[in-house]
Amino acid sequence: MKSIVIYFSHTGENYSVGNITVGNTAKVAKEIAAQTGTTTWEIKEKNPYPTQYTPCIEVAKKELQAKARPEFIGEAPDLSDIDTIYLGYPNWWADAPMIVYSFLDKAKIDGKTILPFCTHEGSGLGSTAKKLAAAYPKAKVELKGLALYGHVAQKEPDAVKSAVANWLKQLGK
Ligand SMILES: Cc1cc2nc3c(=O)[nH]c(=O)nc-3n(C[C@H](O)[C@H](O)[C@H](O)COP(=O)(O)O)c2cc1C
Repeated sequence: MKSIVIYFSHTGENYSVGNITVGNTAKVAKEIAAQTGTTTWEIKEKNPYPTQYTPCIEVAKKELQAKARPEFIGEAPDLSDIDTIYLGYPNWWADAPMIVYSFLDKAKIDGKTILPFCTHEGSGLGSTAKKLAAAYPKAKVELKGLALYGHVAQKEPDAVKSAVANWLKQLGK
């Protein structure tokens, strides 16, 4: 059976890293794909989030409060021969961005193992994995996800490499 890395990551201005063209979570996603020999699929929003930090956190807060399901571009990939999904996202207001839920609502994930990884600036994984597990009880969401500081993910490739390697080892991958 196969695995895939699916992630959402925001570019533009962000906390502690300035203006970025490759998102923090994207960097981790690419490293996981490299170490596991899998492909990546990026969840991209149809209506772009603001590139500036303050407006972006306001939009994200409203989406969270409304339990919004913002649209993503394209169709969810065919996951029929996939058994393990490495699922990446930034910690947004102590949850996964609502667009990650939009994706999971549409993708056929029942029975699949979901291995969450996130980047953050202090909150870690928080209860994001627990929230995903509660929202998608028919998927097997691993609660011991990988959490990396966004600025580390952005600027310290060697740290990302070893954190990913350790996590995969812990998971027996
Ligand atoms: C809308 C928004 C909300 C955020 N909320 C949190 C938070 O609650 N806790 C935290 O530690 N970091 C928070 N952050 C920081 C991001 O999690 C962090 O910068 C992350 O690495 C961004 O990843 P990305 O470049 O892949 O989008 C927030 C950032 C944004 C833009």
